[in-house]
Amino acid sequence: MTWWRDAVIYQIYPRSFSDSNADGVGDLNGVRHRLRYLEWLGIDAIWLSPIFPSPMRDFGYDVSNFVDVDPTFGSLRDFDLLVREAHELGIRVLLDWVPNHTSSEHPWFLDARSSRTSRHRDWYIWRDAKPDGSLPNNWIHAWSDEPTWTWDELTGQYYLHMFLADQPDLNWSNPEVRDAMSETLRFWLERGVDGFRMDVVHAIGKDVDHDDPADLRLLSHTPLNDVDVTHEYLREIRRVLEEYEGDRVSIGEVYLLDPVRVATYYGHGDELHLSFNFKSLFTAWRASAWLDTIGETESALGPVSAWPTWVLSNHDNARVATRLGGQERVRAAMTLLLALRGTAFLYAGEELGLEDAIVAPEQVVDPGGRDGCRAPIPWDDHEDHGWPAGAWLPFAGDASRFSVQRQEESSGSTLQFTRRLLALRRNSKVLRSGETENLHVQGDVLVFDRVADDEVLRVLVNFTGSTHPVDLVGSTLVISSVDRPTPGELAANEAAIYRVR
Ligand code: NOJ
Repeated sequence: MTWWRDAVIYQIYPRSFSDSNADGVGDLNGVRHRLRYLEWLGIDAIWLSPIFPSPMRDFGYDVSNFVDVDPTFGSLRDFDLLVREAHELGIRVLLDWVPNHTSSEHPWFLDARSSRTSRHRDWYIWRDAKPDGSLPNNWIHAWSDEPTWTWDELTGQYYLHMFLADQPDLNWSNPEVRDAMSETLRFWLERGVDGFRMDVVHAIGKDVDHDDPADLRLLSHTPLNDVDVTHEYLREIRRVLEEYEGDRVSIGEVYLLDPVRVATYYGHGDELHLSFNFKSLFTAWRASAWLDTIGETESALGPVSAWPTWVLSNHDNARVATRLGGQERVRAAMTLLLALRGTAFLYAGEELGLEDAIVAPEQVVDPGGRDGCRAPIPWDDHEDHGWPAGAWLPFAGDASRFSVQRQEESSGSTLQFTRRLLALRRNSKVLRSGETENLHVQGDVLVFDRVADDEVLRVLVNFTGSTHPVDLVGSTLVISSVDRPTPGELAANEAAIYRVR
């Protein structure tokens, strides 16, 4: 078994994690200082959202140099220390590689836009206006209903950007771009990173000379982009990772909501090692909805031997507590996440059951309006919550009560519960790698078994606000998301795992 199949990967949004130099923004030394906490929690790997030099228009997803660390976060030396210390504790380190676009301040783009004949002109995607003066195609930008094209006055052409105009898309059909981007991977692989989360990697190939269908016209182009040539590029990327020992992993942010389409990005074991399954993030909190999501995922990925992944939140979407409401449901959702067959992604702060911060209009800094779920981690219940200079975004409500310190001290906390779940999964072969069987719903209770050899664990999740009888004679309770479970019954919003055999 490769390590990443068994893993729980913990997403750190570095700006909001831990601030070592009291400037209000988290940094790499902040992460280093919290490694003991992460070891205690029991996760296997950390994925750091981008740490590269950036003008921060999209808070690091606009990269102006792929092979350095932004001074906000520290230095390459700090990064090397972080990797070394994490590895000493058995924690792997993944970076967030942003291959689809650069910052408009990247030297490649500065050169590209300097003239039509510049050395890097063809590293980006330029088009003339159509003969009637209209835009090159009808694609829509990710966070608004604006076009993905911006007119460049100096050189008299449009350039493509699926995100901000400050994030021009790279032209992956140019082999020089592919080589240069491979070099950026090698730079970090040499420094010992264990792999990459790859930002909107399904979008690197493009069919720019076609419009999106008329009935999808108001949708952002990002979740529609799905073209054959991307698979060739992914095979090249895979070969770069395979130049290195030690199971380096590629995890694609394949932002497509259909597991059948997502499955194609694993190739025949020669493209991505893993892909995000965003269907899980957007599945409503209902047994029937989860039945469909799990069933569709298993049947799309199983036949092609692609390993599933599960995610409930990240830096782009509302936190679980905000989305589902209440700690009972958070704990039930954590149980489900960690009991499913596949690699699990845990967004920093979910182990605390944090909610999104309420961000007043004048405090909004993100162009996509995603500030609430990026609220800083409250480390303790002092006034500053471990952020001596205050933090770049407001804290979530009740930060003291949700702080790491307060929850470490209370055995009934969401943090301690998540820690117990993580330990259970780590020590249970059947939870890590067993098959999923017997998937069904009883009323609004989801039921499935994890099965390996002669072991069977039954997972039950009650999605309702009322109790539900369970017939599990002869089974023993392994873990429950409520403090005092009642035998023979699931409490409202309870998730439980029983040993059947
Ligand atoms: C997806 C990332 O998760 C998001 O935060 C970012 O804004 C876009 N890709 C563009 O890089």
